[in-house]
Amino acid sequence: MRRAVCPGSFDPVTNGHLDIVGRASRLFDEVIVGVLINHSKTGLFTVEERIEMLRQATASYGNVRVESFHGLLVDFCRAQGAAVVIKGLRAVSDFDYELQMAQMNIGLSGVETLFMPTNPLYSFLSSSLVKDVVKWGGDASSYVPDFVGERLVTRLRQN
Ligand code: PNS
Repeated sequence: MRRAVCPGSFDPVTNGHLDIVGRASRLFDEVIVGVLINHSKTGLFTVEERIEMLRQATASYGNVRVESFHGLLVDFCRAQGAAVVIKGLRAVSDFDYELQMAQMNIGLSGVETLFMPTNPLYSFLSSSLVKDVVKWGGDASSYVPDFVGERLVTRLRQN
């Protein structure tokens, strides 16, 4: 069984994330989306809410599982039996930090990181930008699944 992990915060999942997860799911037998539990950073959505949205958004892929993790990514990979981490690269600006993490992770445990170029349609996209657009009344419908857009509107414009 060839497994890969797609890690991240996913607060919330965007079409950019789904592009990477979907392409990874065609390359591996199983893809595990790992949602980081970060106690030092409060998200807009709880980890449970993020997982629920990710499960709904990836249900059609068939070989994608969504789990949460805390601590080191390499420990999560080991626990899941995954030898590979998949990361999307949007632009050169992503590369420096991603390279550092990939090199640290292979040094820590031998887990390989494969970089996947993001679809240019989503090369500027991030969960933070989407939240800002929705908060101030903009239309983010091209960037997140419809049901995620609705939850963003409810959460961000309730006051
Ligand atoms: O979506 P994000 O916030 O850019 O994802 C970052 C993530 C979760 C991939 C990264 O913070 C991570 O791997 N955290 C786990 C802690 C860890 O393993 N740290 C050492 C990395 S070298």
